[in-house]
This record gives sequence, structure tokens and C-alpha cells, in this order.
Amino acid sequence: MRRPMMAGNWKMNKTIEEAVVLAEAIHAAVADYDHVDRVVCPAAICLPAVRAALADSPVAVGAQNMHWAESGAYTGEISPSMLAGLARYVIIGHSERRQYFAETDETVNQKLHSALAHNLTPILCVGESLAQNEAGETDAFVSGQVRAALAGLTGEQAQGVVVAYEPIWAIGTGRAATAQQAQQICGDVVRRALRDGYGEGVAETMRILYGGSTNEKNIAEIMQQPDIDGALIGGASLKAESYAAMVRATDELYRSS
Ligand code: PGA
Repeated sequence: MRRPMMAGNWKMNKTIEEAVVLAEAIHAAVADYDHVDRVVCPAAICLPAVRAALADSPVAVGAQNMHWAESGAYTGEISPSMLAGLARYVIIGHSERRQYFAETDETVNQKLHSALAHNLTPILCVGESLAQNEAGETDAFVSGQVRAALAGLTGEQAQGVVVAYEPIWAIGTGRAATAQQAQQICGDVVRRALRDGYGEGVAETMRILYGGSTNEKNIAEIMQQPDIDGALIGGASLKAESYAAMVRATDELYRSS
């Protein structure tokens, strides 16, 4: 059985001091729910302090982005080796980065290769816009994003990737996909693309998260779907109570199954 993951994407929120307070509160609230991989992704500048605050915690730390190159003339960027020792995970290709910072399938692919080469576990984000959804383009677009992102990775490398399906229309809108919609895309589109690329054995081991307006009310139904192995959580991960409630609900489901 795939191990579930609840990953908090804090986006551009929290100062260093606030991030430490939140990390400590999250640790206190979720330390016992060990059927779930618990991950927090603070802003890059907060990583050293949050990493230190969680040094003895089962809560792992992720970054929200990175450059693919080792070093060089890329003003404002952070390289994978700078994340070494600070982050175990790195979010790659979030729709906000694709939309506002011109990330493309090609740069996402370069970042995936680079993250894996540096022993970081990428959380690869894919998902369609409202217009694409309404035009019936979701399946083709999302499977194309998965294929393009994973291009050139071996099956063994692909198994080191977590995929997050995040429909753009559901992010930060309070309008989550229904559990059935999310299952349909995670299963019939994302996992099928993984199966087509790497075969059943690899596809069945890879974790697929859903993201977009998840919260403590809708998480249990989402987590009961067979092809959904966790959530990438934005707004609801900024409060220890709501994040912990989501981890607890997932822990209960997996503890009893
Ligand atoms: P949200 O964000 O939970 O606030 O919708 C999810 C995300 O962007 O990862």
C-alpha cells in the first residue's frame, strides 16, 4: 500500500519567526500520526530556521522551488545543492510558478532531473485551467504535462517523484474538485500516464496527491479515493489546527485499513 502524504505549501506567507512558531505548533499537533508522511514547505528564507525547529521531528521539510543548475549567474535563484541538508522535498512546477514566473514543461523537466540527482524528492505539480476544463481538454493537457515533466527519467527515477494534481480553478478558490472528479483525473489520467510510460509495477508504487481547496471538511472523502495518496495543501496548511485535523483524518483512514 502506498504511504499517504499531507504536504503543506505555505507559499509566500510567514516571516522567519512566524514560520518557526507554526512549525513548532504543527510538530506538537501531528507528531503522533505516524501512518502519514507529514511535510511542510516554507519560503526558502525560512528553511534553515524551520529545519532547525524540526530537527528531532517526524515532520519533514520541503522547498517550494529551485533552479536546476548547480551554481551560476542566475540572480535571485536557489540551487539544488543549496537545499542540501535543509529540505528533503521540493515542489516543482506549481501552477503559480508556471503562470507568474514563466516556467514551462521544459524547465520543469530540467528541475526534476536536477532534484533527483541531488537526492531531493520532487513534488511535481500538474493541472488544467478553468478554460481548459470547460473546453474538455483536461485529460489530454494533464497527461501531456505528466509525460513532458518526466521525459528522460527511468522507471526507477520516476518512482522517486510524487505527482500532485492541482486543477488551477480549485486552487485558493474554496471550490475544490469533488472527490469523484479528483479520483477520475488522478486515476484515469495521471496514473494511466504513469502506467503507459513505466508499466503497472512502477505506476502502482508512485504517489499521486490532489491539491486545490482541500480542508478538514473535505479531506476524508478525498483520501478514500483509491488513486489519491495525499494532498498538497495551501491555505489550510497555514494553521496548525486545520493541518493537524487533515493529518489526523488521514491517519485514521490508514490506521484502520
Ligand atoms: P489551496 O492551495 O489549498 O489554498 O487551494 C493548494 C496549492 O496551491 O498547493
